[in-house]
Amino acid sequence: MSPSASAVVRDRLRIAIQKSGRLGDPARELLRAAGLSWRESRDRLFCFGETLAVDLLLVRDDDIPGLIADGVCDLGIVGRNVLLEQRAQVANAPFVELRPLGFGGCRLMLAVPDDFDWRDASCVAHRRIATSYPGLLAQWLHTHAIEATVVTLSGSVEIAPRLGQADLICDLVSSGATLAANHLKPVETLLESEAVLAGPSAGLSGLRGELTDLLLRRIDGVLRIRDSKLLLFQAARAAVPGLLALLEDAEAPTVTAVHDSDQLALQALCHGAMTWQRLENLKRAGAQGLLVLPIERMLA
Ligand code: PRP
Ligand code: ZN
Repeated sequence: MSPSASAVVRDRLRIAIQKSGRLGDPARELLRAAGLSWRESRDRLFCFGETLAVDLLLVRDDDIPGLIADGVCDLGIVGRNVLLEQRAQVANAPFVELRPLGFGGCRLMLAVPDDFDWRDASCVAHRRIATSYPGLLAQWLHTHAIEATVVTLSGSVEIAPRLGQADLICDLVSSGATLAANHLKPVETLLESEAVLAGPSAGLSGLRGELTDLLLRRIDGVLRIRDSKLLLFQAARAAVPGLLALLEDAEAPTVTAVHDSDQLALQALCHGAMTWQRLENLKRAGAQGLLVLPIERMLA
Protein backbone atom coordinates (compact mmCIF):
# COMPACT_ATOMS: atom_id res chain seq x y z
CA MET A 1 0.00 0.00 0.00
CA SER A 2 1.33 3.45 -0.82
CA PRO A 3 1.75 5.89 2.10
CA SER A 4 -1.02 8.11 0.73
CA ALA A 5 -3.50 5.22 0.51
CA SER A 6 -2.83 4.07 4.08
CA ALA A 7 -3.23 7.64 5.31
CA VAL A 8 -6.87 7.54 4.16
CA VAL A 9 -7.79 4.99 6.86
CA ARG A 10 -8.75 7.06 9.87
CA ASP A 11 -8.24 5.63 13.33
CA ARG A 12 -10.30 8.32 15.03
CA LEU A 13 -14.08 8.54 15.10
CA ARG A 14 -15.56 11.72 13.67
CA ILE A 15 -19.01 12.99 14.67
CA ALA A 16 -20.80 15.79 12.82
CA ILE A 17 -22.98 18.09 14.89
CA GLN A 18 -24.87 21.30 14.19
CA LYS A 19 -22.57 24.34 14.39
CA SER A 20 -25.30 26.70 15.51
CA GLY A 21 -29.00 26.26 16.03
CA ARG A 22 -31.27 24.28 18.28
CA LEU A 23 -29.39 20.98 18.38
CA GLY A 24 -25.74 22.03 18.70
CA ASP A 25 -25.52 22.76 22.43
CA PRO A 26 -27.63 19.84 23.69
CA ALA A 27 -25.70 17.51 21.36
CA ARG A 28 -22.41 18.58 22.93
CA GLU A 29 -23.89 18.31 26.42
CA LEU A 30 -24.94 14.73 25.71
CA LEU A 31 -21.51 13.77 24.39
CA ARG A 32 -19.88 15.46 27.36
CA ALA A 33 -22.11 13.47 29.72
CA ALA A 34 -20.91 10.37 27.84
CA GLY A 35 -17.38 11.26 28.94
CA LEU A 36 -16.00 13.08 25.90
CA SER A 37 -14.03 16.30 25.99
CA TRP A 38 -12.34 18.34 23.26
CA ARG A 39 -9.82 20.95 22.42
CA GLU A 40 -11.47 23.45 20.08
CA SER A 41 -9.78 24.81 17.01
CA ARG A 42 -9.63 28.57 16.60
CA ASP A 43 -12.22 28.60 13.82
CA ARG A 44 -14.52 26.40 15.94
CA LEU A 45 -15.22 24.05 13.04
CA PHE A 46 -13.26 21.09 14.39
CA CYS A 47 -12.93 19.85 17.96
CA PHE A 48 -10.13 17.42 18.70
CA GLY A 49 -11.16 14.71 21.18
CA GLU A 50 -8.99 14.51 24.30
CA THR A 51 -10.44 11.75 26.48
CA LEU A 52 -11.24 9.45 23.56
CA ALA A 53 -10.24 9.37 19.89
CA VAL A 54 -13.55 10.99 18.99
CA ASP A 55 -13.49 14.33 17.14
CA LEU A 56 -16.34 16.71 16.34
CA LEU A 57 -17.00 18.48 13.08
CA LEU A 58 -19.30 21.51 13.41
CA VAL A 59 -21.43 21.89 10.30
CA ARG A 60 -24.82 22.89 8.91
CA ASP A 61 -27.42 20.31 9.94
CA ASP A 62 -28.58 19.76 6.35
CA ASP A 63 -25.04 18.68 5.42
CA ILE A 64 -24.83 15.92 8.04
CA PRO A 65 -26.49 13.03 6.14
CA GLY A 66 -24.29 13.74 3.10
CA LEU A 67 -21.13 13.84 5.22
CA ILE A 68 -22.02 10.39 6.60
CA ALA A 69 -22.88 9.09 3.13
CA ASP A 70 -19.51 10.29 1.80
CA GLY A 71 -17.62 8.82 4.77
CA VAL A 72 -16.26 12.25 5.73
CA CYS A 73 -17.91 11.74 9.11
CA ASP A 74 -18.73 8.45 10.81
CA LEU A 75 -21.69 9.56 12.90
CA GLY A 76 -23.89 12.63 13.16
CA ILE A 77 -26.38 14.20 15.54
CA VAL A 78 -29.18 15.59 13.44
CA GLY A 79 -32.94 16.05 13.42
CA ARG A 80 -34.89 13.01 12.23
CA ASN A 81 -36.66 15.45 9.87
CA VAL A 82 -33.38 16.20 8.06
CA LEU A 83 -32.43 12.52 7.88
CA LEU A 84 -35.80 11.38 6.55
CA GLU A 85 -36.06 14.26 4.09
CA GLN A 86 -32.78 13.24 2.50
CA ARG A 87 -33.86 9.59 2.50
CA ALA A 88 -37.02 10.68 0.70
CA GLN A 89 -34.94 12.45 -1.93
CA VAL A 90 -32.16 9.88 -2.43
CA ALA A 91 -32.96 6.25 -3.21
CA ASN A 92 -31.00 3.77 -1.04
CA ALA A 93 -29.55 6.54 1.10
CA PRO A 94 -26.62 4.94 2.98
CA PHE A 95 -27.38 6.36 6.43
CA VAL A 96 -29.70 5.26 9.24
CA GLU A 97 -31.02 6.41 12.60
CA LEU A 98 -29.10 4.61 15.37
CA ARG A 99 -30.74 6.18 18.44
CA PRO A 100 -33.41 8.75 19.23
CA LEU A 101 -31.77 11.16 21.68
CA GLY A 102 -34.71 12.67 23.55
CA PHE A 103 -34.09 16.37 22.82
CA GLY A 104 -34.88 18.84 20.03
CA GLY A 105 -38.46 17.62 19.77
CA CYS A 106 -40.51 19.21 16.99
CA ARG A 107 -43.08 18.33 14.33
CA LEU A 108 -43.21 18.72 10.61
CA MET A 109 -46.64 20.26 10.09
CA LEU A 110 -48.94 21.81 7.57
CA ALA A 111 -49.92 25.33 8.60
CA VAL A 112 -52.50 27.62 7.03
CA PRO A 113 -53.27 31.35 7.39
CA ASP A 114 -55.41 32.09 10.48
CA ASP A 115 -58.49 32.85 8.36
CA PHE A 116 -58.20 29.64 6.29
CA ASP A 117 -61.35 27.55 6.75
CA TRP A 118 -59.61 24.21 7.44
CA ARG A 119 -61.63 20.97 7.66
CA ASP A 120 -59.32 18.10 6.72
CA ALA A 121 -56.45 17.02 4.50
CA SER A 122 -58.57 17.33 1.37
CA CYS A 123 -58.40 21.14 1.78
CA VAL A 124 -54.85 20.90 0.41
CA ALA A 125 -55.96 19.71 -3.02
CA HIS A 126 -54.74 21.92 -5.90
CA ARG A 127 -53.20 24.41 -3.49
CA ARG A 128 -49.60 25.71 -3.47
CA ILE A 129 -47.58 24.54 -0.46
CA ALA A 130 -44.27 26.21 0.43
CA THR A 131 -41.72 23.99 2.17
CA SER A 132 -38.07 23.09 2.72
CA TYR A 133 -39.19 19.45 2.94
CA PRO A 134 -40.33 18.61 -0.61
CA GLY A 135 -39.48 14.92 -0.23
CA LEU A 136 -41.51 14.30 2.94
CA LEU A 137 -44.34 16.50 1.68
CA ALA A 138 -44.49 14.58 -1.62
CA GLN A 139 -44.67 11.29 0.33
CA TRP A 140 -47.53 12.62 2.44
CA LEU A 141 -49.42 13.90 -0.63
CA HIS A 142 -48.90 10.53 -2.30
CA THR A 143 -50.17 8.60 0.74
CA HIS A 144 -53.29 10.76 0.86
CA ALA A 145 -53.71 10.66 -2.94
CA ILE A 146 -53.82 14.46 -3.04
CA GLU A 147 -52.54 16.58 -5.92
CA ALA A 148 -50.98 19.89 -5.00
CA THR A 149 -48.15 22.17 -6.10
CA VAL A 150 -45.01 21.97 -3.97
CA VAL A 151 -43.07 25.25 -3.83
CA THR A 152 -39.58 24.41 -2.57
CA LEU A 153 -37.87 27.17 -0.57
CA SER A 154 -34.60 26.94 1.34
CA GLY A 155 -35.69 29.21 4.18
CA SER A 156 -38.21 31.78 5.47
CA VAL A 157 -41.01 29.44 4.47
CA GLU A 158 -43.37 31.05 6.97
CA ILE A 159 -43.64 34.32 5.04
CA ALA A 160 -44.52 32.63 1.71
CA PRO A 161 -48.31 32.92 2.15
CA ARG A 162 -48.05 36.65 2.91
CA LEU A 163 -45.86 37.14 -0.15
CA GLY A 164 -48.43 35.37 -2.30
CA GLN A 165 -45.98 32.56 -3.14
CA ALA A 166 -48.13 29.84 -1.56
CA ASP A 167 -51.52 29.15 0.03
CA LEU A 168 -50.12 27.21 2.96
CA ILE A 169 -46.81 25.92 4.28
CA CYS A 170 -45.25 22.69 5.48
CA ASP A 171 -42.57 23.45 8.09
CA LEU A 172 -41.09 22.48 11.42
CA VAL A 173 -42.97 23.59 14.50
CA SER A 174 -41.34 23.54 17.89
CA SER A 175 -42.84 26.09 20.29
CA GLY A 176 -45.23 27.39 17.65
CA ALA A 177 -43.96 30.97 18.09
CA THR A 178 -42.84 31.33 14.46
CA LEU A 179 -46.26 30.31 13.16
CA ALA A 180 -48.09 32.61 15.57
CA ALA A 181 -45.87 35.56 14.64
CA ASN A 182 -46.78 34.98 11.00
CA HIS A 183 -50.53 34.59 11.54
CA LEU A 184 -50.47 30.89 10.64
CA LYS A 185 -52.11 27.97 12.45
CA PRO A 186 -50.87 24.34 12.50
CA VAL A 187 -53.43 21.89 11.13
CA GLU A 188 -51.80 18.54 10.30
CA THR A 189 -48.73 16.62 11.52
CA LEU A 190 -46.60 14.85 8.92
CA LEU A 191 -43.76 13.75 11.18
CA GLU A 192 -42.76 13.69 14.86
CA SER A 193 -39.11 14.58 15.04
CA GLU A 194 -36.30 14.84 17.58
CA ALA A 195 -32.52 14.77 17.51
CA VAL A 196 -31.12 11.36 16.59
CA LEU A 197 -27.71 9.76 16.33
CA ALA A 198 -27.21 8.79 12.69
CA GLY A 199 -24.62 6.51 11.15
CA PRO A 200 -23.83 4.61 7.96
CA SER A 201 -26.26 1.79 7.02
CA ALA A 202 -23.29 -0.50 6.49
CA GLY A 203 -22.06 0.01 10.05
CA LEU A 204 -18.47 0.78 11.04
CA SER A 205 -15.67 -1.69 11.49
CA GLY A 206 -12.29 -1.77 13.21
CA LEU A 207 -11.35 0.83 15.78
CA ARG A 208 -14.10 3.21 14.69
CA GLY A 209 -16.66 0.41 15.08
CA GLU A 210 -15.39 -0.26 18.60
CA LEU A 211 -15.50 3.44 19.49
CA THR A 212 -19.07 3.60 18.15
CA ASP A 213 -20.13 0.64 20.32
CA LEU A 214 -18.53 2.24 23.36
CA LEU A 215 -20.23 5.56 22.63
CA LEU A 216 -23.64 3.91 22.10
CA ARG A 217 -23.33 2.08 25.44
CA ARG A 218 -22.51 5.32 27.20
CA ILE A 219 -25.25 7.28 25.45
CA ASP A 220 -27.76 4.58 26.41
CA GLY A 221 -26.60 4.94 30.01
CA VAL A 222 -26.92 8.73 29.92
CA LEU A 223 -30.40 8.57 28.37
CA ARG A 224 -31.60 5.95 30.85
CA ILE A 225 -30.65 7.94 33.90
CA ARG A 226 -31.93 11.27 32.61
CA ASP A 227 -35.23 10.81 34.44
CA SER A 228 -34.17 7.94 36.70
CA LYS A 229 -34.03 8.18 40.47
CA LEU A 230 -33.18 5.78 43.25
CA LEU A 231 -36.13 5.61 45.62
CA LEU A 232 -35.68 4.48 49.24
CA PHE A 233 -38.39 4.05 51.87
CA GLN A 234 -39.76 1.79 54.58
CA ALA A 235 -43.21 0.28 54.95
CA ALA A 236 -45.19 -2.29 56.87
CA ARG A 237 -45.16 -5.73 55.22
CA ALA A 238 -48.91 -5.55 54.46
CA ALA A 239 -48.49 -2.28 52.54
CA VAL A 240 -45.76 -3.58 50.22
CA PRO A 241 -47.92 -5.12 47.44
CA GLY A 242 -49.91 -1.88 47.11
CA LEU A 243 -46.71 0.17 47.01
CA LEU A 244 -45.11 -2.02 44.35
CA ALA A 245 -48.20 -1.52 42.19
CA LEU A 246 -47.44 2.22 42.27
CA LEU A 247 -43.89 1.57 41.03
CA GLU A 248 -44.55 0.10 37.60
CA ASP A 249 -41.62 1.94 36.08
CA ALA A 250 -39.17 0.55 38.64
CA GLU A 251 -36.61 -2.15 38.00
CA ALA A 252 -37.17 -5.19 40.26
CA PRO A 253 -37.22 -3.43 43.67
CA THR A 254 -35.09 -4.76 46.51
CA VAL A 255 -37.03 -5.53 49.70
CA THR A 256 -35.02 -6.12 52.87
CA ALA A 257 -35.81 -6.63 56.55
CA VAL A 258 -35.21 -3.77 58.98
CA HIS A 259 -33.23 -4.72 62.09
CA ASP A 260 -35.35 -5.18 65.25
CA SER A 261 -38.52 -4.15 63.50
CA ASP A 262 -41.55 -5.45 61.66
CA GLN A 263 -40.91 -2.97 58.90
CA LEU A 264 -39.44 -3.71 55.48
CA ALA A 265 -37.02 -1.41 53.62
CA LEU A 266 -37.50 -0.94 49.89
CA GLN A 267 -35.05 0.27 47.30
CA ALA A 268 -36.17 0.82 43.71
CA LEU A 269 -34.60 2.31 40.60
CA CYS A 270 -37.44 4.24 38.96
CA HIS A 271 -37.27 5.40 35.36
CA GLY A 272 -40.28 7.74 35.30
CA ALA A 273 -40.32 11.28 36.69
CA MET A 274 -40.52 11.26 40.49
CA THR A 275 -42.95 14.12 40.99
CA TRP A 276 -44.25 15.43 44.32
CA GLN A 277 -47.63 13.99 43.40
CA ARG A 278 -46.15 10.50 43.05
CA LEU A 279 -44.45 10.83 46.42
CA GLU A 280 -47.76 11.88 48.00
CA ASN A 281 -49.42 8.81 46.49
CA LEU A 282 -46.70 6.53 47.86
CA LYS A 283 -46.94 8.13 51.30
CA ARG A 284 -50.69 7.62 51.31
CA ALA A 285 -50.15 3.97 50.39
CA GLY A 286 -47.93 3.50 53.47
CA ALA A 287 -44.41 4.54 52.43
CA GLN A 288 -42.40 6.11 55.27
CA GLY A 289 -39.18 8.09 55.20
CA LEU A 290 -39.19 8.51 51.43
CA LEU A 291 -35.81 9.41 49.94
CA VAL A 292 -35.24 10.24 46.26
CA LEU A 293 -31.62 10.08 45.12
CA PRO A 294 -30.18 11.22 41.80
CA ILE A 295 -28.23 8.71 39.71
CA GLU A 296 -24.71 9.77 38.79
CA ARG A 297 -23.79 7.04 36.29
CA MET A 298 -25.22 3.81 34.99
CA LEU A 299 -23.56 1.03 33.00
CA ALA A 300 -25.85 -1.85 32.17
C1 PRP B 1 -37.48 25.66 12.45
C2 PRP B 1 -38.55 26.14 11.49
C3 PRP B 1 -39.05 27.43 12.08
C4 PRP B 1 -38.73 27.29 13.56
C5 PRP B 1 -39.98 26.95 14.34
O1 PRP B 1 -36.23 26.01 12.04
O2 PRP B 1 -38.04 26.31 10.20
O3 PRP B 1 -38.37 28.53 11.55
O4 PRP B 1 -37.78 26.23 13.72
O5 PRP B 1 -39.73 26.96 15.72
P1 PRP B 1 -40.84 27.52 16.72
O6 PRP B 1 -42.09 26.72 16.50
O7 PRP B 1 -40.27 27.26 18.10
O8 PRP B 1 -41.02 28.98 16.46
P2 PRP B 1 -34.91 25.30 12.65
O9 PRP B 1 -34.60 25.85 14.00
O10 PRP B 1 -35.05 23.83 12.59
O11 PRP B 1 -33.77 25.77 11.70
P3 PRP B 1 -33.50 25.38 10.17
O12 PRP B 1 -34.78 24.81 9.63
O13 PRP B 1 -33.09 26.68 9.55
O14 PRP B 1 -32.37 24.39 10.19
ZN1 ZN C 1 -31.04 23.64 8.71
